[in-house]
Amino acid sequence: MLVFSSTFLIFFAPVWGQGHGLIASLQQFSDLSIFNGYVRNSSKLTSFFTSANNITLFVPSDSAFKEWNLLQDIALSSHNSSISDQIEALLTYHIVNGTFSTKGFSDRPRFASTLISNSIFTNVTGGQRVELVMNGANPVIGSYNRTTSGISTSDAIFAGGLIHIIDKVLTLPGDAVQLIAQQAFGYFVSILTAGNYISQEFVADVRNAIFTPNTTIFAPNTQQALDDFKTLSSGSSHEQLAAILNYHIIPGSTIYSPEFKHSMTLHTAQGMNATMTFQGNTTYINGAKIIGLDYLTANGVLHMFAVCSTPSTSRAHQPLRVPIRLPPRGLLHRMQCQSLAGVKI
Ligand SMILES: *[C@@H]1O[C@H](CO)[C@@H](O)[C@H](O)[C@H]1NC(C)=O
Ligand SMILES: *[C@@H]1O[C@H](CO)[C@@H](O)[C@H](O)[C@H]1NC(C)=O
Ligand SMILES: *[C@@H]1O[C@H](CO)[C@@H](O)[C@H](O)[C@H]1NC(C)=O
Ligand SMILES: *[C@@H]1O[C@H](CO)[C@@H](O)[C@H](O)[C@H]1NC(C)=O
Ligand SMILES: *[C@@H]1O[C@H](CO)[C@@H](O)[C@H](O)[C@H]1NC(C)=O
Ligand SMILES: *[C@@H]1O[C@H](CO)[C@@H](O)[C@H](O)[C@H]1NC(C)=O
Ligand SMILES: *[C@@H]1O[C@H](CO)[C@@H](O)[C@H](O)[C@H]1NC(C)=O
Ligand SMILES: *[C@@H]1O[C@H](CO)[C@@H](O)[C@H](O)[C@H]1NC(C)=O
Ligand SMILES: *[C@@H]1O[C@H](CO)[C@@H](O)[C@H](O)[C@H]1NC(C)=O
Repeated sequence: MLVFSSTFLIFFAPVWGQGHGLIASLQQFSDLSIFNGYVRNSSKLTSFFTSANNITLFVPSDSAFKEWNLLQDIALSSHNSSISDQIEALLTYHIVNGTFSTKGFSDRPRFASTLISNSIFTNVTGGQRVELVMNGANPVIGSYNRTTSGISTSDAIFAGGLIHIIDKVLTLPGDAVQLIAQQAFGYFVSILTAGNYISQEFVADVRNAIFTPNTTIFAPNTQQALDDFKTLSSGSSHEQLAAILNYHIIPGSTIYSPEFKHSMTLHTAQGMNATMTFQGNTTYINGAKIIGLDYLTANGVLHMFAVCSTPSTSRAHQPLRVPIRLPPRGLLHRMQCQSLAGVKI
């Protein structure tokens, strides 16, 4: 028994240190002095790390911190909290609930819950997520604005889980409006502009979209979507425009791509349901094709989708019917065009 446990200690000695858990383990690495300094300065983190169990820690190296600037982090710096609170929040986003070895990473992403759930910083209850996925042969961690961090040292074991050293600080997700301004969402931005959505007139709808916890947004983002929107929205009332916007928002339900299911019913903020359909490797919502996945936001996730132009004339390939009454003159009325082979209406 004794022999067994000392073998165990020797085996883990390089990482586990004197058996004092995570803090001692982290001190074994010479390139983590900035991270260790932040932890030392935070009584909350020090006490958490003293008894941490069943976690995975993504630790930015010193060079990662040197390239990083707190002010670039919209979600952290866009409100009035102290710098030490912001750093504490940021580090909490680097702690994942559960043990995730890089051996379990694959081309199919997973969205792991981190320990940050404070609504000052995030409205994904149960913990804001990070994406764990292979990028070719390399395991990477995805965070806000499609930032990916590589892993320089993986799967270091400590008594309560695993440590991965990463080469770029993770970015805590900011809100959807800030996200689309940075990414390739030009058509969607034009739709929002054409509908006058980013204005006082729709402030309540937009606030609901970006603050309601656990929300999924489907953002139409093609020339066709913009053209359709312009046609459909001309002469629409405020209520009709609000209905179009809200039909693209699924509140109370964070649907990351691994949770997509054929025939899934989506309960929109507008009140009507939409339906998800698979055809081959392509996913459609009411016949509109999804073309970009899993943009993390402060309150959930945003997917990009397209609208197609020619309604199918084939009886065998009748498009999905959207309810006639609502949304009035809605964008999704025109998204019926995609014929869905094998889907019987
Ligand atoms: C920790 O706190 C000390 C004293 O306030 C400060 O000088 C030091 O820069 C802090 N270290 C880090 C990494 O924030
Ligand atoms: C931020 O908080 C500090 C202290 O809580 C306060 O003195 C300051 O006026 C606040 N600033 C803003 C812009 O709200
Ligand atoms: C970790 O996840 C489990 C469920 O999988 C949950 O019961 C637990 O509260 C979570 N822990 C933290 C610190 O969020
Ligand atoms: C570790 O955490 C994961 C994710 O929360 C949970 O599913 C698993 O049951 C936990 N395992 C143990 C041994 O607590
Ligand atoms: C979360 O929602 C609350 C209430 O709507 C809001 O005050 C807060 O700013 C939101 N937090 C984030 C990070 O968006
Ligand atoms: C967000 O991503 C886009 C596209 O990759 C990039 O052009 C932009 O600089 C990024 N913004 C930040 C703040 O990193
Ligand atoms: C948000 O989603 C998480 C994880 O799916 C869940 O645990 C939590 O109850 C949800 N919260 C709300 C308000 O829907
Ligand atoms: C939406 O679907 C649910 C079942 O998932 C159903 O109970 C509800 O009545 C539907 N709502 C509308 C407006 O059709
Ligand atoms: C679906 O994706 C898989 C894996 O990426 C690929 O092997 C397969 O050829 C794809 N099928 C179609 C119909 O595109």
